[in-house]
Amino acid sequence: MRNFTSIADVQDLNALINAARSCKIPDPQYKKQGEGKTLGLIFMNPSLRTRLSTQKAGMNLGMNVMVMNFSGEGWALETKEGVVMDGNKAEHIIEAAAVIGEYCDIIGLRSFPGLIDRDADYSEEILSNLIKYAGVPVISLESATRHPLQSLADMLTIEEFKVVDKPKVVMSWAPHPKVLPQSVPNSFVEWALKMDYELVVTHPEGYELSDSFMTGIEVEYDQNKALEGADFVYVKNWSSFREYGKVLNTDKKWMITVEKLGNTREAKVMHCLPVRRNVVIADDVLDGPQSIVIEEAGNRVYSAQAVIQEILKSI
Ligand code: CP
Repeated sequence: MRNFTSIADVQDLNALINAARSCKIPDPQYKKQGEGKTLGLIFMNPSLRTRLSTQKAGMNLGMNVMVMNFSGEGWALETKEGVVMDGNKAEHIIEAAAVIGEYCDIIGLRSFPGLIDRDADYSEEILSNLIKYAGVPVISLESATRHPLQSLADMLTIEEFKVVDKPKVVMSWAPHPKVLPQSVPNSFVEWALKMDYELVVTHPEGYELSDSFMTGIEVEYDQNKALEGADFVYVKNWSSFREYGKVLNTDKKWMITVEKLGNTREAKVMHCLPVRRNVVIADDVLDGPQSIVIEEAGNRVYSAQAVIQEILKSI
């Protein structure tokens, strides 16, 4: 594996999940795998889990890890080619990427979408330019359209908690007051589709994800019907793809509550976090035995470690 930006970069998904699982067993060999190598983590947006888990994964592999919050500490970046840079943007990504590539053996990048210009967001301008100009492998720490490290941790978590061979996995939209990206749900369905799961997506009308992610996936607009018999409920808000970046619905009835879970097969509840309590998921669910959100977040370390290990083999 050279870069890790989507499931398309993964040759053998089951092998990668097993590798992540193996990372949970301490092994002194891990520290030697990244010895002398530098991992640079660039954040254009806030992060708790991705930042700390990827940093820890790099340290577990004996790497030197550097983290930079680009939005507050870096120069404002230009990404368009051929522009006259006489405005606010002081540095072009052509130089910035190449310079970071001089300092790092692997680069991780988090870059959210602007959620105004759909074509610009879905073209993954920043991520693709970093890959083009850095000259070293790049890991997506959540891009405009995908969050692959989260998805790998999600698949690992489902594999660890499933009690039937082919679990019913329901991804449910939930309300949120802010405009959020589609990256987590896009990525989740992209990965879950490759697993042996019965996958159902439920959301209000108007929240359809891009066809490029949803082909072959069942959509059920009635949330209660979708939840019937679920083994896992993956809860997430996203803004509209069709009316790009708009909040069309804030109906509290979509929040996941203990009552809603009554229809499921004692479904485990997942969320990538951060989660707004009593807006997205009710307190009694998050504090109850069906929530596995902390275990899911814990798995972020091992998913990142397995991906970095795989990339280290190629450099
Ligand atoms: N799930 C996730 O990516 O969390 P952070 O935004 O805190 O990194």
